[in-house]
Amino acid sequence: MSSPLQTESEPLSDYAAVGGAPAVTAVVNRFYELVVGDERLAGYFDGIEMVRLKRHQVALVSQVMGGPVEYSGRDLRAAHANMGISADDFAAVAGHLIAALTEAGVPADIIDRTVGAVAATQPDIVEVPSTQA
Ligand code: HEM
Repeated sequence: MSSPLQTESEPLSDYAAVGGAPAVTAVVNRFYELVVGDERLAGYFDGIEMVRLKRHQVALVSQVMGGPVEYSGRDLRAAHANMGISADDFAAVAGHLIAALTEAGVPADIIDRTVGAVAATQPDIVEVPSTQA
């Protein structure tokens, strides 16, 4: 698509570098496989419509990676309100995102940037400092 000239003047976004929509979709699918397969987390996703959730998560991750995609799901604070999500839950979910990105062969610097942006959402999502008393 892009000519060598364009590539020189405009560096590739992380989104393009990892392979765009198919790559991000595969990572998000694997991410939710790990999340719902984790007994600490599975209960949160009971009865949740996963197709819609994945669609929103793909858009969010794509946007964070600089893709030409705009997240149009709910505000993250509203989407996670009253679930009692703990800091430990959040760390577990973030860990599964790192695992899915790593498995897909995404370079470490891109993982760091992506997870860094996602980690910044913690104050909107976590309601319980820690599950450990
Ligand atoms: C790591 C940071 C996280 C990000 C970036 C994130 C992102 C999202 C997004 C984009 C949605 C879709 C919102 C919508 O459909 O409008 C969502 C929904 C949801 N998230 Fe998260 N999330 C995170 C952490 C967590 C954690 C730690 C939990 C629970 C352990 C969780 C549980 C859920 C559930 C159950 C829904 C579905 C809510 C519903 O449809 O009613 N999320 N999240």
